Amino acid sequence: MNRTEISDERIEAAAATLRDGGLVAFPTETVYGLGADATSADAVARIFDAKDRPRFDPIIVHLANAGLLETVTDNLPPQAVTLADAFWPGPLTMVLPRGDAIPPIVSAGLSTVGVRVPDHPIASRLIELADRPIAAPSANQFGRISPTTAAHVREQFGDQLDEVLDGGPCRVGVESTVLDLTGALPTLLRHGGVTREQLQEVVGTIEVHQGTQPVDQAAPSPGMLARHYAPNTPVVLLNRLSAPPGPGSGLLTLTRPDSPDGWAQIEVLSEAGDLVEAAAGFFAALHRLDDAGLEQIVALEFPETGLGAALNNRLVRAASRE
Ligand code: TXA
Ligand code: MG
Repeated sequence: MNRTEISDERIEAAAATLRDGGLVAFPTETVYGLGADATSADAVARIFDAKDRPRFDPIIVHLANAGLLETVTDNLPPQAVTLADAFWPGPLTMVLPRGDAIPPIVSAGLSTVGVRVPDHPIASRLIELADRPIAAPSANQFGRISPTTAAHVREQFGDQLDEVLDGGPCRVGVESTVLDLTGALPTLLRHGGVTREQLQEVVGTIEVHQGTQPVDQAAPSPGMLARHYAPNTPVVLLNRLSAPPGPGSGLLTLTRPDSPDGWAQIEVLSEAGDLVEAAAGFFAALHRLDDAGLEQIVALEFPETGLGAALNNRLVRAASRE
């Protein structure tokens, strides 16, 4: 279904569901979100239950526009305004001091809140009509592959949700970049749709949070778990193809391999090697490979520039055994 086929009445009904404490999956430019009223601890608790998400992993709050920032934080660093001007609406999440309107459960008890303004007409309209900030993680079961179509959401949740708004495939295809603005220097906690290079052009030096942490550890960046974005099929990450593929192997690759011999399935993300195109199709290709009954998925590393950093980061986690 095309995004323009969703009527305003349908979005208004979904907004009413959100106001009543329900769960609504909706498209954003990055991935589908699983939304609930961010000002209601009970509604947000339903997100954690539906996703089987550990309570130490904080959820991003979504606003209809940057003018509403003061509804979720009472301490707005000047850099946040500069960054909002540069990248919103768009795939940047800023971590800011949490205001009183946002209950602690949203942020897993942290004194901060992650906030962004999505760049998608259905998301914008839904949040505007709901008339409150909307908490929304990616609409997948915890640790699994992120959803970039409404079908991906339905596969993982069946009838568990009150509403799934179908806006077609997501344009960007990887989640937002998470940038913490509560320390001395802006710190990149998660690579995503806004690249590190783009951020540096606007705010100069940024720190990059390195490494991951075990599942049972909370702050400072609970989302950086070693294993995440994981298919059921084992993933092997390589920086180049040397040996011939084992039986039942699928290949996830940026450009076409020299020889297709021996691969049970090949997913080429961009014939031209374009990382923006690759990101847009990345999770859908991973879903297809996972659904193909393969023995293993071999993924080839992306160049570590632009969106390649976000894609590599997700591959490392998808392949992690921790
Ligand atoms: O593009 C996106 O960000 C999508 C769409 C739906 O907006 N949402 C998304 O949410 O990816 P989720 O829950 O799958 O990932 C949120 C990430 C996690 O790594 C979480 O730990 C981090 O953001 N995060 C959220 N609030 C935070 C906070 N207050 N401090 C540090 N990290 C935070
Ligand atoms: Mg997620």
